[in-house]
Amino acid sequence: MSATIIDGKKLAAATRAEIAAGVAALKAEKGVTPGLAVILVGDNPASVSYVTAKEKASREAGMHSVEIRLPADATEDEVLARVRALNDDPAIHGILVQLPLPKGISEKKVIYAIAPEKDVDGFTPVNVGKMLIGDDCFLPCTPHGIVKLIETAGMDVSGKHAVVIGRSNIVGKPVAALLARKGPSANATVTLCHTGTPDIAAYTRTADVVVVAAGRPNTLTGDMIKPGAVVIDVGVNRVPDATKPRGYRLCGDADFASCAAVASAITPVPGGVGPMTITMLLWNTLQAARNSSCAQVGM
Ligand SMILES: NC(=O)c1ccc[n+]([C@@H]2O[C@H](COP(=O)([O-])OP(=O)(O)OC[C@H]3O[C@@H](n4cnc5c(N)ncnc54)[C@H](OP(=O)(O)O)[C@@H]3O)[C@@H](O)[C@H]2O)c1
Repeated sequence: MSATIIDGKKLAAATRAEIAAGVAALKAEKGVTPGLAVILVGDNPASVSYVTAKEKASREAGMHSVEIRLPADATEDEVLARVRALNDDPAIHGILVQLPLPKGISEKKVIYAIAPEKDVDGFTPVNVGKMLIGDDCFLPCTPHGIVKLIETAGMDVSGKHAVVIGRSNIVGKPVAALLARKGPSANATVTLCHTGTPDIAAYTRTADVVVVAAGRPNTLTGDMIKPGAVVIDVGVNRVPDATKPRGYRLCGDADFASCAAVASAITPVPGGVGPMTITMLLWNTLQAARNSSCAQVGM
């Protein structure tokens, strides 16, 4: 292996320490404690563990943390009513609805109901639109974390070719948009690949940075990248493994061994993108609380 491992845990710990200091300062200076509310509908095991991790991280940062758990048979109206109540709650600065929602509840309706100034996931059309325009907004957490990880790898993407595999609204499309923006830590020439792309390797072999977010193991292999490329592996896949106590192991979308032999830097799974996603959620929540405190004193 020749690649440097991009340590998402280490970057997350350093950024969370900065956030905790920001939370303490906001409390001391303005008497405002950032509040994050997470709504979980049902008991999907992966969602439960994400929500638990988010709650723990927000408490550790000194934030006010609220977890609302609704049964899997909750109605869309019940979920919408909870969102609206949180929109009106001055102790809450950030609202996150854990996806996916059970069948029968429109994710679109629920996300669109979140007040944009409390949309710390950056999923509402107002924040997505502002991100594309380049206005100040809450950037979506995973893409924002990915940009930070690329910076940490010492890669200035300006003028470089970045290939993003995957075009979801929460990862692929916003990552591509952020990397293509005019400005620092951006200004890349971006190619967005998906299942309609006939020969993905033809693009990735010319890429200085590859971000793979397909949700499929081995989407990216070492023979598909050019020597020295930076690889950001967003995928989180459960692969059956009888040697593990839980009966599975986690792997990313990149074949780690073959990519690490060719790349200059690569994120591991776990321990790469995941820790930064939660960190950027806390970052946005602190920012939302700062914004509200400025609004209170008319700044
Ligand atoms: N670590 C984190 O914090 C974090 C956060 C979010 C997501 N994730 C993980 O990242 C992965 C992607 O998440 P997502 O929400 O973006 O997934 P998604 O909504 O399922 O989207 C996957 C995208 O990848 C494309 N794709 C799938 N297989 C492909 C292939 N073989 N070749 C090229 N493109 C392919 C799909 O193309 P089409 O559009 O053509 O179908 C789609 O655009 C998942 O493993 C997820 O668990 C991790």
